[in-house]
Amino acid sequence: MTKKRDVSATVFVNPVPLVLVTVADRRGRHSIITVGWAGGMCADPPYVGIAVRLDRFSHDIICESREYAINLPTRDMLEVVDYCGSVSARERDKFADTGLHREAATRLQWASLIRECPVNLECRVEDILSLGQHDFFVGRVVATRAHSDWLGERGRICPLPREYLAYSSGEYLGIEAPLGRRGKIFRPRA
Ligand SMILES: Cc1cc2nc3c(=O)[nH]c(=O)nc-3n(C[C@H](O)[C@H](O)[C@H](O)COP(=O)(O)O)c2cc1C
Repeated sequence: MTKKRDVSATVFVNPVPLVLVTVADRRGRHSIITVGWAGGMCADPPYVGIAVRLDRFSHDIICESREYAINLPTRDMLEVVDYCGSVSARERDKFADTGLHREAATRLQWASLIRECPVNLECRVEDILSLGQHDFFVGRVVATRAHSDWLGERGRICPLPREYLAYSSGEYLGIEAPLGRRGKIFRPRA
């Protein structure tokens, strides 16, 4: 069996899905930030948290506006995902540069949604955990919008696996095929 070794304490929970987070302040400054550290925290009521480094332009905007939108990109949006994760809105207008379109949010006051993303979650910040290099924003999902072709039975969001976009250790990843349905895999050994 392969021998395990102790290495320095690190963050390795990979792969992670990628999201585009949109933020804006009351002066009308917008940013789109690529975020790998986003995750569901509670189903009912719904919460999605994001970890944002203190030096990001978006960080200060979220602290001021106390809101953000999570926009799910598809694999064909890889170029804009990479761009929004490499350039700061301090220097560039990311909506203008990428050609992405702003769509009005239903419940947020400042931030826009990204029209090209098939799923948008509008979040209001209820708590901020100061952890060090990153702050963790606890966002209550106050509205969700999804393309109708991503909706299955009873309004459930069901994307095609080949549209997913994930990330691990500096590499973008796609998912080629599902492995099976939840709850249908385990077979007890007789
Ligand atoms: C794949 C990828 C994942 C990223 N994940 C995060 C993240 O989880 N948190 C974060 O603060 N920055 C993350 N970044 C970096 C920001 O997206 C990047 O610094 C961005 O330019 C910040 O924009 P802003 O200064 O307009 O806020 C990621 C970048 C990439 C390319």
